[in-house]
Amino acid sequence: MSPASRTIIHHSLNRYRYNETYPLLSTGRRKHNCPEHCLLTTLGAVIIFVVFATVFRIMPADNEFAWTNFESSSCTTYATREYVAELNVSIWNIHRMEICMGTSADVHGKPHRPSSCEVRSGKVVGHFAISHDEPDCVTYWSEYKDKGCNARGSKKRHIAQHLMNLPHKANYKEFCATTPARFLEQEFSGANSCETSIWGVWGHWFIDDDSC
Ligand SMILES: *[C@@H]1O[C@H](CO)[C@@H](O)[C@H](O)[C@H]1NC(C)=O
Repeated sequence: MSPASRTIIHHSLNRYRYNETYPLLSTGRRKHNCPEHCLLTTLGAVIIFVVFATVFRIMPADNEFAWTNFESSSCTTYATREYVAELNVSIWNIHRMEICMGTSADVHGKPHRPSSCEVRSGKVVGHFAISHDEPDCVTYWSEYKDKGCNARGSKKRHIAQHLMNLPHKANYKEFCATTPARFLEQEFSGANSCETSIWGVWGHWFIDDDSC
C-alpha cells in the first residue's frame, strides 16, 4: 500500500466518524422532552436500586438472621466436636460471610461464633468447634510405661502411654498430638510421636534425662 492511498483511507475514515457523530450533536432537541425522559430514567434508577437493596441487603439489621438445622458432627481434636448449621441469609447477600462469621449460636448454654463459613448446596453454612461439655471427644492416657533410656548417651528417656477413648473414625494422630499428659512433674500438650497398631494407639515422649 502506497503512502498516498493510506492517507486517503485515513481521510475517508475521519469523514465517516464525523458523519456518525453529527446526528448525535443534533439531539439537543431531545432535551425538551426532559420531564418524560427524566421521570423514566429516575424511575428506572429507583427500581434498580430497590432490586439491588433487596437482593444484597445493603443494610442488614441485627438479629435478622438465625441458625437452623443445627447438627453435631465428628470429634475433630481433643475434647472438641464440630457442629454444622445453616444461616438463613441469602447466598446473594454480598455480606454473607461477615454476617455468618458474626452471628453466634448457643451451644451447651454458651454463645459461639463459627470458626468458618462457606456456601454449600445453595446455603450459607457455618462450622462450629465446641471445646466444652463434649465428653465423648475427651481422650486420655493410661498404661504409663517407662521404656528406659532412648539410647546410651542420648540424654533422653522414652515414655510410652496408651491413648484411651479415641472416638470412632477419629484422626488418631490429631488426638494423640493434642491430648494433654502429665508425668514426672512435667506437663505436655500432647505426645511427641504416635503410632497405631492392633493394640491401639500409643503416644511416645522423649524427655530430657541426664542419667541417660
Ligand atoms: C431468619 O430466621 C429468623 C428466626 O426464625 C427470623 O426472625 C428472620 O426474619 C429470618 N431472616 C431471614 C432473612 O429470613
